Amino acid sequence: MTAEPLLEVSDLSRRFGGLKAVEGLSLQVGRGEIVGLLGPNGSGKTTALNLISGALAPDSGSVKLAGQETAGAPSHRVARLGIARTFQLVRLFQTMTVLENVVAGMAFTHEPRFGAAAAADALALLEKLGLADRAAQPAADLTYIDQKRLELARCLASRPRVLLLDEWLAGLNPTELQLAIGLVRSLKDEGVSILMVEHVLEAVRSLCDHCVVMNAGRRIAAGTAAAVLADPEVVRAYLGDEHA
Ligand SMILES: Nc1ncnc2c1ncn2[C@@H]1O[C@H](COP(=O)(O)OP(=O)(O)O)[C@@H](O)[C@H]1O
Ligand SMILES: [Mg+2]
Repeated sequence: MTAEPLLEVSDLSRRFGGLKAVEGLSLQVGRGEIVGLLGPNGSGKTTALNLISGALAPDSGSVKLAGQETAGAPSHRVARLGIARTFQLVRLFQTMTVLENVVAGMAFTHEPRFGAAAAADALALLEKLGLADRAAQPAADLTYIDQKRLELARCLASRPRVLLLDEWLAGLNPTELQLAIGLVRSLKDEGVSILMVEHVLEAVRSLCDHCVVMNAGRRIAAGTAAAVLADPEVVRAYLGDEHA
């Protein structure tokens, strides 16, 4: 990691009424790193991504992208600075075509593209995600997995510096999972830095340079995947979960 992390989250907190959804969370993502954000259901992972992407304002704490404070900035401004995210529940423009959905990801970024250049770029991204032959179909006609692919293509259209993935690998079959892991690795190789909320431990082990584990809004462990998954406090947090 270079001296200054690309994404630096410090002491971030957000309450919903009396519930401390995120409390004093700190984490860093270095340039070209993949960092895993783990934790049982309800531990505050999606809220943390919402705070980082500007979908929610924090009550306190700091989010810095390349040293620039973004905490509390609206999501369109955060997106323009180079932070893009996928949603745990996919969000697309259902009536627009697959290609149009990707082009829509290009207009409000730090490198906006329009017209023929945008269409050519979008097609190249669809090619990469294995969706080129569906470019002219309405997004609503895609299978769930293809909708997830399309959402990622739209994120990549913004040429993000930091990509936030919220359980992007959930629901894939074993073959799809291997392809998806390869794809995420190729993004890292292209220099995209990634913060991924993920439950698929095979993916966490093979992709993440390091991991941060949350429980009840707080960070309870940080380190390599192998180290945090062997940490007794992490094991306890997961075994207390309904899925244990
Ligand atoms: N917009 C909201 N309003 C009220 N409570 C919320 C809201 N978003 C999340 N929460 C609560 O905050 C806690 C953390 O949720 P979340 O960040 O979605 O967890 P995770 O993604 O780790 O499963 C949960 O108890 C959840 O019910
Ligand atoms: Mg979540």
